[in-house]
Amino acid sequence: MRQGVDEANGGMDTIAGVISSAKVFNGILAAVEEGILDVLTDTSPVPLETLASATGTLPGPLRSLLRGLAGAGLVQESEQGWLLSKSGARLSPSHPRSAHPLLKLQAWGVESHVNLAGIRSALRGRRNPTEVPDALVPTLASAMRLGASIPSLFISRVPELRSARHLVDVCAGPAQYALALCRTHRGLRVTALDREPMIASARRLLEAEDEGVAARVDTVAWDLHADPIPVNMDAALVSHVLHLLDERERRDLLRRIAERMDSGGVLLLHDFLAPDVDGGVVIDWLTLGACFDLSVPELAGEVESAGFDFLRASRMAEAGTSLVIARRR
Ligand SMILES: C[S@@+](CC[C@H](N)C(=O)[O-])C[C@H]1O[C@@H](n2cnc3c(N)ncnc32)[C@H](O)[C@@H]1O
Repeated sequence: MRQGVDEANGGMDTIAGVISSAKVFNGILAAVEEGILDVLTDTSPVPLETLASATGTLPGPLRSLLRGLAGAGLVQESEQGWLLSKSGARLSPSHPRSAHPLLKLQAWGVESHVNLAGIRSALRGRRNPTEVPDALVPTLASAMRLGASIPSLFISRVPELRSARHLVDVCAGPAQYALALCRTHRGLRVTALDREPMIASARRLLEAEDEGVAARVDTVAWDLHADPIPVNMDAALVSHVLHLLDERERRDLLRRIAERMDSGGVLLLHDFLAPDVDGGVVIDWLTLGACFDLSVPELAGEVESAGFDFLRASRMAEAGTSLVIARRR
């Protein structure tokens, strides 16, 4: 019924919803950056005055912000004060599956380039660095660990990996996929490549891990834009990396992987692929200057021309991502 009204109205409900969401999103980011979400919980109400003095904000504007977030169903007011709603519970940094690290990254992105000026300059060819500031690397590592929980189960079960002996994880993040793969495949070694500050996070994660598994993961500081792959391999994982690169850089990375991969080796490419991509993700990549909005056949074409045979692609609905599997010719 409402959809019919919206269509008859030229999509005005849809447009108004998008406009409102963008403003609420900025309100959430302000709550992250001002430490408001460090104080709110979904169990104990906090009086407005207490929240204002804990965060160095003014009670009047703070109440407006909270009412804005309440309008989106994320916080609620009780007689004793303000608390996160059930829908907003994961905004808290203390939630076991907290969205807080992701929101910290979003706040940096919006301040840095994922904004009106960033989109307009990307439309004129501006590229942004693929590296987050060093201070945000631990936050990125936390967000990636959470993001990998479902895809890592799926990727570990890819049958082509059963015979693999040495996998290179390209831009491995904190080595969460490397660990999941070594837990599943007892005969596998993984070389995890990433930039130095992220490799430091990976080493901390590995120290807390079962020694037998961690001993099979080597970590190597490496530059995505310049360095050759440092070891020979019979498998490679490239998860959420191709979207950082434009077409020339993607082809160059695939060529560097092909150079060190045995014939018959398996290549796993994990990313968001068109047409089932969230619009916000496409805007992220646009503002980065990568404009990675490839479909499976388009990516398969790039893979084939780098010396691989495309085998198949599977979509992981729960994660919204796709896995492309190819074999080195
Ligand atoms: C979106 S994360 C993906 C991490 C991991 N593969 C995953 O799927 O969770 C992108 C990774 O690329 C790394 N990266 C960005 N620029 C890099 C560079 N110049 N050299 C090496 N790694 C880089 C980041 O540190 C980060 O770990």
